[in-house]
Amino acid sequence: MNIAQYVKSLNVVEEHYPDVYSYAVDNSVPIIDSDALAALKHLIRIKGAKTYMEIGTAIGYSGLHLLSVYDDSHLITMEKDRGAYETAVENFSRYDVASRVDAHLGDAKTMDLNIEEESVDLLFIDASKGNNQLFFDKFSPFVKEDGLIVVDNILLRGLVTEDDIVGRNKRKLKEKVDAFNQHMSQSDYPTSFLPIGDGLLVISKSQV
Ligand SMILES: C[S@@+](CC[C@H](N)C(=O)[O-])C[C@H]1O[C@@H](n2cnc3c(N)ncnc32)[C@H](O)[C@@H]1O
Repeated sequence: MNIAQYVKSLNVVEEHYPDVYSYAVDNSVPIIDSDALAALKHLIRIKGAKTYMEIGTAIGYSGLHLLSVYDDSHLITMEKDRGAYETAVENFSRYDVASRVDAHLGDAKTMDLNIEEESVDLLFIDASKGNNQLFFDKFSPFVKEDGLIVVDNILLRGLVTEDDIVGRNKRKLKEKVDAFNQHMSQSDYPTSFLPIGDGLLVISKSQV
């Protein structure tokens, strides 16, 4: 067992949604790694965060987990794939949280949300990884001054550190994710780059 596997084995999160998890595994739906999810839920508890905005609903797995921390929490979530969106809406209903979710179908890059600026406690960016910068610029204004922005998959399963990448698309993706990571690292925002799951970037909205 290597260190990453050892840490993963310790960072267990109670699986409240085994059927949603199994569906994701069986249908190759990419969902957040369990250790990154454990950290995300821990951050929510530490902050007492109750309003969430998520880019990349998929089938609602992470959304269900976010909503499970507090009974009076609320989620705004966006998904561009109709099939995934419909499965997510079904899952939110089955688990009786639909009244706490605003699920939007469409491309988050061009979506106009009729919500107030600085109104959510946590922004979770988990969609097309090459657009992390765009999503950050577009949606961080909706985060409260003392809120958090969390970005998943900032390590691209190791691709981000590779030099000899075969394939133009892969190379471009790596460059974009790396550029975003470097930009956030140099910014005035307090940041933590955490090597759990596929890499979680935690950003405080309040600049130093
Ligand atoms: C990694 S999955 C999300 C996983 C989910 N957050 C979870 O952990 O359960 C990424 C999702 O983002 C969606 N997506 C990608 N680009 C998007 C965009 N521009 N707007 C909205 N959704 C997008 C994909 O269709 C996919 O379902």
